[in-house]
Amino acid sequence: MLGAVNPPVFENSLFTFETAGELGEAIKNEDERYVYWRGTNPTVDLAQRKLAALERGERAKCFASGMGAIAATISSLVKAGDHVLVLGAVYGPTTQFLRYLEKFGVTHTHVDDLEGCDSAIRASTRLLYFESPSYMAYAVVDIAEVTAWARERGLVSVMDNTWSTPIFQKPLTLGVDLVVHSLSKYIGGHSDLVGGVVVGPSRLIRPLALTEYQLYGAAMSPHDAAKVIKGLRTLPVRMAAHQERGLAVAGFLAEHPAVRTVNYPGLPSHPGHAQALRQMSGFSSLFSLELDTDSRPAVAAFIDLLRYFRIGVSWGGFESLVNAPALSTEESVRATMGIPVGLVRLSVGLEPADTLIKDLGLALEGVGPLA
Ligand SMILES: Cc1ncc(COP(=O)(O)O)c(C=O)c1O
Repeated sequence: MLGAVNPPVFENSLFTFETAGELGEAIKNEDERYVYWRGTNPTVDLAQRKLAALERGERAKCFASGMGAIAATISSLVKAGDHVLVLGAVYGPTTQFLRYLEKFGVTHTHVDDLEGCDSAIRASTRLLYFESPSYMAYAVVDIAEVTAWARERGLVSVMDNTWSTPIFQKPLTLGVDLVVHSLSKYIGGHSDLVGGVVVGPSRLIRPLALTEYQLYGAAMSPHDAAKVIKGLRTLPVRMAAHQERGLAVAGFLAEHPAVRTVNYPGLPSHPGHAQALRQMSGFSSLFSLELDTDSRPAVAAFIDLLRYFRIGVSWGGFESLVNAPALSTEESVRATMGIPVGLVRLSVGLEPADTLIKDLGLALEGVGPLA
């Protein structure tokens, strides 16, 4: 508009019409027509069109958070009596949401692989949900294989692609029906935004946009949509920089004697590396490492010695972050999830790799012999 290099932000809670008939017609198609901000907004629409194009999907719907997108997507696909298969480790609140759905008669089973899917599938199973790389362990799922398995059995597949972003992985082209993202991570990229999106075919997005989007009220604001659009402009260059730093930092840690393992699919030593190369064109910079210790105080001492990795939740921003489930997750939850005490999660930001490596090296030295 007017040759503006930045599209305007439409701050309109509502849109008006010439006649009552026009309004009635717009309300019937409220997923596409501008009526009220809780349903549609031109700036949000622009972000949606960009995200759909990037993911190679027909349509996208943006939400006020990643969890807003995940909750609405799952809810739109199941009804009382249905069953959901969850493959591999997924983001904690996604599991919590599935547990919450139990009170509405929707059940779920966690499985580790396709054999697990074969044993756990029921006549009532509707949905296969997974992440690749998976949560905390960063295990790689053969996306084409599992989506073919799901399709043969009439299940809808939903995948969280937040880790890779559409720059490095396009799950819809590998057979996934719906892709969800937290936009709060790499896509936003500046730690100034919380948002989510679901992308896929119109036949699945339209009902969701008309029902769950309107009723749950987790609509994205136009201001956040403008930040998403801004994030998308630099996403490819930021992802290239994250990858370069992620590989350098993970490579350094993998060689360090105080580190048992590094769970980073970009390293050739990672068990999912070969599969990752078949379905991904690059690697982001969130990964975990296991310190050679089973002592919580030792993990805490290591983290406290870091200067450039700031302690915090979330990931995917310009700033490097560190977090450890042993210190931030309830002990029983950590143990049930099989997460080792020494596991530390790093989100490698955009600082120079040698600065980050030096920081980690000094902290590993400073903490002394690990017990
Ligand atoms: C893999 C993954 N998916 C989804 C979410 C939820 O996103 P949001 O925090 O935007 O609700 C997160 C948040 O940390 C995440 O790590």
